[in-house]
Amino acid sequence: MADTLKVSAPGKLIISGEHAVVYGYPALVAAVNRRLSISLARGKKKIKSNIPIGCGMGSSAAYAVATSAARTFLKNKKLDLGEINKMAYKIEKKRHGNPSGVDNTVSTYGGLLWYRKESEGLKTFSSIKIKRSLPKIYIIGTGKPVESTKEMVTRVGKLYRKDHQNTEIIFKEIEKITRNFLQYLLGERVASFQELIKENEALLEKLGVVSSFTVRLIREIEKIGGAAKISGAGGSKNKSGILLVYHKNANKLKNFVKREKLELIKIQLGEEGVKIEK
Ligand code: PMV
Repeated sequence: MADTLKVSAPGKLIISGEHAVVYGYPALVAAVNRRLSISLARGKKKIKSNIPIGCGMGSSAAYAVATSAARTFLKNKKLDLGEINKMAYKIEKKRHGNPSGVDNTVSTYGGLLWYRKESEGLKTFSSIKIKRSLPKIYIIGTGKPVESTKEMVTRVGKLYRKDHQNTEIIFKEIEKITRNFLQYLLGERVASFQELIKENEALLEKLGVVSSFTVRLIREIEKIGGAAKISGAGGSKNKSGILLVYHKNANKLKNFVKREKLELIKIQLGEEGVKIEK
């Protein structure tokens, strides 16, 4: 219908760098084939989404981006990505206090991004063209964390103040891994994707953002020859949101999720950013 405006924005998966990115370290993040859409027709708003809510897949950022896109389109009759991203960041700030801006940026621009918040006034990012075929990545939901992103970021903030030196060491280690992932994707380095996920997860556990429930699941995945990490803010009390999972033999993962009564979802990275749906 001509008087209907429909915009959609993708969810995301942080490959590496969550939490550290809040402190100016880089993050590698991908838009994924899960989207939220907003339809506006005759003053009514309809929201549809297949992004799991509050699980680390950027559902709230996708909402902020889609809302900002609808607003700017109604005003200017075009999608100004820079404007949308700025507006969405403001919405994210109200909700979460101290966001890095990575979620709204990847949901706006899509693809695979190298992102860095140099300071509040300077956030840089580059789109990455992958030079090799990506390993098959799956997600497994551990369940919705009881803590919000804001609470998890605050938790890491407390650790940062209390044990500044060690937390900086962890962030620096995370940065090394994020860089190794980048070089791997650019075809500049022969690294084990699986090993990088495993090392990244170990550091996130040191930050205290992975619950014992989730740690047990991840150790099981490692025992059957795979690797998994939380992706996003995590959760330390009970569930920790989604896991980014890799195993060269998908059947082993299928058996694992069956045993644990969980769901295995194959995910596509590099989805298009915010757009008008025809
Ligand atoms: O869990 P999510 O989708 O809200 O991701 C948050 C990512 C953090 O690095 C933990 C916070 C941020 O603002 O970057």
